[in-house]
Amino acid sequence: MVETIAIASGKGGVGKTSLAVNCAVELANQTKRVGLLDADFGLANAHIMLNQKVSVSISDMLDGTSSMEDLVQVTPNGLKLIPGGSGVLEVMNIDSKKRWEVIKSLDHLENEIDFLFVDTPAGASDSSIEFAAACDKIIIVLVGEPTSFMDAYAFIKALSIEKNVGGVSIVVNMAKNASDATNSFESFKKIVSHFLEVDLTFVGWLPHSQTISNSIVARKPFILNKKENGNLKMRIDEIIKKVIDASRIKSNGIRFFDK
Ligand SMILES: Nc1ncnc2c1ncn2[C@@H]1O[C@H](COP(=O)(O)OP(=O)(O)O)[C@@H](O)[C@H]1O
Ligand SMILES: [Mg+2]
Repeated sequence: MVETIAIASGKGGVGKTSLAVNCAVELANQTKRVGLLDADFGLANAHIMLNQKVSVSISDMLDGTSSMEDLVQVTPNGLKLIPGGSGVLEVMNIDSKKRWEVIKSLDHLENEIDFLFVDTPAGASDSSIEFAAACDKIIIVLVGEPTSFMDAYAFIKALSIEKNVGGVSIVVNMAKNASDATNSFESFKKIVSHFLEVDLTFVGWLPHSQTISNSIVARKPFILNKKENGNLKMRIDEIIKKVIDASRIKSNGIRFFDK
């Protein structure tokens, strides 16, 4: 059975793709069979962080000019990347039939992977909500700023109302330290639990770190940076472990690898 994990946020630029790429590469390095779907079709950039050239994209699959099998790229770490294209704006807001096609087209990977990470677009669009609710676990990336709180709240509210999602996992990114991260989580949890019946589980945090921003420029996931990653690796391992331990969500609507 494939464990499917969405990375979402509401707000853009909070570190979703960076988290998705590093968790996926770390699990692949632990010899797990891992897939990463870049579902941020309009602004896809997971392939850039992984330094992978992309020639065919999701839009070619949706056009019928190539099959999903042709799209899957295996990185040097054995990660199976399903790239989201490169700035093809038409596929940014694909309709629900096309989302169904994308989700179904991954069925052939069912016996080839143990984990699927889904990097979702920013905003509380139908696409981001549907791709997130189609997964077993949803990680919301939060940063300690009011705009991030607002957008994450709007996203969780939409998940709850439209998809009946009852729980999400929270990762605090760009924190000053552990207590700064837990403080952000606790303040956010207070707001959410006041208005919504959604359980929030704190699954870990990442510091604001030059190593992380440098790794994006260098197109090499920080988890592969042997010199500097001691602490960061610990943080990523903790996030992975807690997300795996979190209970699977139930939701309305289509799910990945659903029979
Ligand atoms: N923990 C961090 N420390 C420092 N910079 C970060 C961190 N996480 C993300 N960034 C920076 O934020 C930018 C956006 O990250 P990205 O993963 O693309 O966000 P998103 O996918 O949410 O839009 C990156 O270019 C990176 O430089
Ligand atoms: Mg992104």
